[in-house]
Amino acid sequence: MKVVTSIPEMQEASSSLRRAGKSIAVVPTMGYLHNGHLSLVKIAKKNSDVVITTIFVNPTQFAPHEDFDKYPRDIEADKAHAQSAGTDILFTPDVSSMYPENYLTYVEIEKISKVLEGKFRPSHFRGVATVVAKLFNITQPHIAVFGQKDAQQIAIIKQMVRDLNFNIKIVVGPIIRDHDGLALSSRNVYLSPQERSEAIVLHQSLELAQQIIHSGARHSHEIIDNMMKLISSKPSAQIDYISITDAETLSELSTIIPATEVLISLAVRIGATRLIDNIIVNA
Ligand code: PAJ
Repeated sequence: MKVVTSIPEMQEASSSLRRAGKSIAVVPTMGYLHNGHLSLVKIAKKNSDVVITTIFVNPTQFAPHEDFDKYPRDIEADKAHAQSAGTDILFTPDVSSMYPENYLTYVEIEKISKVLEGKFRPSHFRGVATVVAKLFNITQPHIAVFGQKDAQQIAIIKQMVRDLNFNIKIVVGPIIRDHDGLALSSRNVYLSPQERSEAIVLHQSLELAQQIIHSGARHSHEIIDNMMKLISSKPSAQIDYISITDAETLSELSTIIPATEVLISLAVRIGATRLIDNIIVNA
């Protein structure tokens, strides 16, 4: 595995791979790699000749009060994990080369950036879209792999790819969970043992929603009420939102429409740690 930190060097490496007829997949991450990230690297490996994994904790997607400074980092462990999962090139630029002093350009995806996560993190997706556009231009991939864990992020990146004519196929990997159902996340390290045991309620509430829908419930408020009751039984849990939307357009659904892909997503604070999770249900 080659480690590249310089943007021009990465661009040159991708250009020469393309000239040699190689297909390139990119897996953008913020590091502190876990099996969720590594599952995406494996998908990338299956679908391309060369896998570029990127590690960059992107300051523009964190609000000033958020956890940019304390976001977990372990580059040496990441190198070992990335390599064993099949990464060919690890791209780890630094903040000053991605955002030099005179940096002025941002990518804004209207409407779908303002709902769900966007209501609680107003500038988050502007930062995500900007850095992903930059990473696409730097790594010049044919394919980019993202996780279903961040369902809204996928909808936004797909919209950006369509709107800005990126010639890149977006591939989505399933959510990888711990043995008890908690979705893997770099932020899970913030949880105390007590909080960790309560955090499974996110996944439990999504499974409950799925069960209720499969047994015939169609009103979103009824489904959400049941989820809220379950989540509120955990002392450390504070719900930011629970939302039932069309999986593609992210528009709110007051009733479940049969044969459409329905995205049930939620953000819950477990103590001081904000976790997100989701499920796609087809009624
Ligand atoms: P990060 O949170 O590091 O996640 C990188 C990729 O891993 C994303 O596509 C995310 O959806 C995926 N992922 C995280 N947890 C997962 C899990 N449990 N199962 C499957 N996939 C999982 O998402 C970001 O970084 C950033 O916003 C980024 C796109 C890199 C832009 O900065």
